[in-house]
Amino acid sequence: MKFLVSKVEDWSLVAKHVVSLLTPSTMILLSGPLGAGKTIFVQALAKELGSKKIPKSPSFALVRTYKLQNTKQIDRLVHVDAYRLESEREALALGLDELVEPGSVLAVEWPEKLGNWLQPLRNPRIEMHITVDPRHETRHVRIR
Ligand SMILES: Nc1ncnc2c1ncn2[C@@H]1O[C@H](COP(=O)(O)OP(=O)(O)O)[C@@H](O)[C@H]1O
Ligand SMILES: [Mg+2]
Repeated sequence: MKFLVSKVEDWSLVAKHVVSLLTPSTMILLSGPLGAGKTIFVQALAKELGSKKIPKSPSFALVRTYKLQNTKQIDRLVHVDAYRLESEREALALGLDELVEPGSVLAVEWPEKLGNWLQPLRNPRIEMHITVDPRHETRHVRIR
């Protein structure tokens, strides 16, 4: 599935589509350059899932959790920004695997920084690739 996102508000359409695909333990892997709109997407997703709080960029916190209420049996949205991770071992130290449990949807920015850590997890996953058209400020989003 492909989306053309020409303005920030258009992310709600992408979020609605992703919500339709979610199960209570889906991992969403968000790839794309800095400023592509990964965090903005997670904000739109949190909104669609009925979170009262709206995610900020968790670059410093690395992991932030948002409680949800009665949304498709999803209890929480866990937002991980691996940008500042120095190594895969740090990910293990964070205990991220404990976060991947039924009832949690995990949205990961910079999943490539987690290396092989994500590999053995059997959770259903959605891969999103965002590319930026610098001339028009538009984003192309590929989902699979
Ligand atoms: N179509 C668009 N989609 C997403 N962001 C856009 C768009 N046009 C401009 N922007 C700007 O690009 C930036 C995206 O930031 P952010 O979501 O934090 O990126 P990332 O998390 O991928 O590094 C924001 O400042 C936003 O206002
Ligand atoms: Mg970000």
